[in-house]
Amino acid sequence: MKQICQLYTELTLEEIIILENVASTLQLYADLNNAYMFIDCMMKNSEQAIVVAEAFPRTSESIYENSVVGKIVFESFEPGVFYSYRAGKKSLTSQAVTQEGKTVEQSVIPIKNDKHQVIGVLISEEEIYNHTPIGSSYKNVSFGQDELSEVLGGNSREVPMISDLLMEIFLLTDKDDCLTYSNPAGVNFITEMTLMDKIQHQPILELLPFLQSVYDFKEDVFIFDLTIDRKNLIVKKIRVKEKEQLKGTLLLIQDVTELRTKEKELMMKSVVIQEIHHRVKNNLQTVASLLRLQMRKGFPEESKVYFEDTLNRIYSISSVYELILANSNTDDEDVNIIELTRKVSSTLVLNEYAIKVNLVIESNGNKILTTSRKAVSIALIINELVQNSLKHAFPEDLAGEIVVSFYSNKTFLELHIFDNGVGMKESKSSLGLEIVHNLVLNDLNGEFRYMPVKLGTHAVVTFPISSEVIIYHEKENTNS
Ligand SMILES: Nc1ncnc2c1ncn2[C@@H]1O[C@H](COP(=O)(O)OP(=O)(O)OP(=O)(O)O)[C@@H](O)[C@H]1O
Ligand SMILES: [Mg+2]
Repeated sequence: MKQICQLYTELTLEEIIILENVASTLQLYADLNNAYMFIDCMMKNSEQAIVVAEAFPRTSESIYENSVVGKIVFESFEPGVFYSYRAGKKSLTSQAVTQEGKTVEQSVIPIKNDKHQVIGVLISEEEIYNHTPIGSSYKNVSFGQDELSEVLGGNSREVPMISDLLMEIFLLTDKDDCLTYSNPAGVNFITEMTLMDKIQHQPILELLPFLQSVYDFKEDVFIFDLTIDRKNLIVKKIRVKEKEQLKGTLLLIQDVTELRTKEKELMMKSVVIQEIHHRVKNNLQTVASLLRLQMRKGFPEESKVYFEDTLNRIYSISSVYELILANSNTDDEDVNIIELTRKVSSTLVLNEYAIKVNLVIESNGNKILTTSRKAVSIALIINELVQNSLKHAFPEDLAGEIVVSFYSNKTFLELHIFDNGVGMKESKSSLGLEIVHNLVLNDLNGEFRYMPVKLGTHAVVTFPISSEVIIYHEKENTNS
């Protein structure tokens, strides 16, 4: 306990000794009251508290599966702890969610130093379902059904029934802004926030001062997004009027704290994934720079072509990541294969060869999206096949045409690469075609073959459309 306090809190040694004295009696109280006892302290440079001591009753089966010492306590889960800390008063909460996600009745009292400053809180928790709440303030029931029925018109008794079942907080205030109806969720919320016994007929702004802006706002129907004490609330307000006279105000309050936390987590995740793509791309560029550096440092001319081939392969892979990063605002990870083909093959045509080649990419109305993993394979396949046409089909700087074309039906996608060059003379395959064969077979579960043609070459890659490949059929044929 001393170690945790020294590490995570700003308590002095004397204050820690006070807490240690309290802690030495925890087990006795836990056994006596059949309650779970804890001491929490505020953490330094943080809005959160930390559990520094605990004792579980030895008489019953524990609701805590593991020790919670050293765990962080959040205000949204245990508001009573923070209330007691700030106000220096006792707090009673009927529905705190424990570290293990269970519901308990929680009593909290402050522990003070000799200057009456709060140095920690002593907490006692009892499981709620073997316990009937004492005292009217924690009764989990609604009130003011008649008022609600009247405001909503006539004798529609069903309305309160329905609002009693709502998870959202449903409140009604009268023309003087005093609380006349609350569903059970509302009763829980207000008693937790105010720790007051009597809430019916109290001015709502005394109970929940943060609603001031909601009541001040002139519009009769409006939705507010409020943040109080790190709770995110959506408040819907409806003023009910009769002949221009205010009859009352209906409030529907939704606690979206958990939702917002999840949203933030998701955003963090996609930021991390983006960062990884960036690093992959940057690392590939570093590898490419190293190779280029090596090429400049005197080396045999005959190896140049191998280095260039390797560089092209690296560029093809990094194109996939460049495309993902360029689309990062759309927040999806899928790569558009037509765009990728355009990027990979036009870089080859522009940079590598002096020959005059007309490059045509035909999508045939297909918009094909796939995962980065499959896209890397497709980029490499296109790189090898287009490069072969550029390298072998047009000797002596003959002008020519290369066509990359996509066809699809419900189950298969076909990628055709034609050129009108000299055609394949012998079929001795080297590393390039080996890479294509391997990727088509192992990664795409497909088939690679050359079609017999009179002029030039015609390579075809066919592979089944899996869950990783999505095809949209566009009306316009966006060939380029
Ligand atoms: N479009 C084409 N037109 C004419 N010949 C081709 C064509 N594509 C491939 N070839 C022939 O097939 C052979 C094998 O191609 P492959 O891609 O395996 O090797 P490479 O291109 O010579 O070297 P690398 O391993 O760098 O790709 C080539 O050497 C070439 O003779
Ligand atoms: Mg090749």
